[in-house]
Amino acid sequence: MKIISSLSEFLDWRASIDSSATVGFVPTMGALHDGHLALVKRSLNEAHITVVSIFVNPKQFGENEDFNSYPRTIEEDCDLLKQAGVDVLFVPQYEDIYSDDIKSFTFESLFSYQLEGKSRPDFFPGVINVVSRLFNIVNPSLSFFGKKDAQQLILISKMVDVGSFPVRIVPVETVREPSGLAMSSRNIYLSKTQTLSASKIYKSLLLAKDLLDRGEKEAKKIKNEIKKSLLADSAISIDYVSVVNLDDLKEILGSVNAPALISVAVYVGGVRLIDNLFYE
Ligand code: PAF
Repeated sequence: MKIISSLSEFLDWRASIDSSATVGFVPTMGALHDGHLALVKRSLNEAHITVVSIFVNPKQFGENEDFNSYPRTIEEDCDLLKQAGVDVLFVPQYEDIYSDDIKSFTFESLFSYQLEGKSRPDFFPGVINVVSRLFNIVNPSLSFFGKKDAQQLILISKMVDVGSFPVRIVPVETVREPSGLAMSSRNIYLSKTQTLSASKIYKSLLLAKDLLDRGEKEAKKIKNEIKKSLLADSAISIDYVSVVNLDDLKEILGSVNAPALISVAVYVGGVRLIDNLFYE
């Protein structure tokens, strides 16, 4: 695996590869787990060359968020990517990404400020900024995003359409612990008992799916049942529970008809966790 840590070296390498080769790209912030490796494996299967980037993007963290303490495990990450068979690991510096020479794209929709965007208003503008810059540097044919960060996946897909980026966005299923807990770099902050509490998140989503499958379509009822099941564990507090229409991304006030996205954000201890279920 080639490790490249400067923009000029990356651009030289990118210019040197065969123009008929497809480049699969997995942007990450490191602290890699099986969820990231699922994205990497998809890329290795679907593209000729796989590039992974590790860049903890300060612009997508709010002032009181965990940028400074965000887990940084570069040596372990390198080993995992090497073992997986990744071709290039790009570890840019701040100046490389935010150089005036690199074009960024601004894309905001109302959806940027709902759900995750409501609680974290800097998050999606920061993600769009960095991902558009990374796309302009890496120039990938395919790029892989997890369905766990559903809102990110949806907004990046829209950015690619609106900005006519020549890349296909490939959604990848959420990878879960045997308990159902969605893999996340932030799970390492959880104690054993908090991990147990956190596993109730997915159970509450499955309960919602079961209700829908059995004919209960009232969004308010579904959300109340999710809340009730989450709050049965005193370690959990709720940030939001939402059911949006996948077509227009609007919160559903009446009946839920597929396709819909059910998402939750909770705190377990001080740790904020998200999860979702695509009801299709
Ligand atoms: O999902 C993430 O890890 C980040 O939001 C991303 C897409 C790498 C942009 O910094």
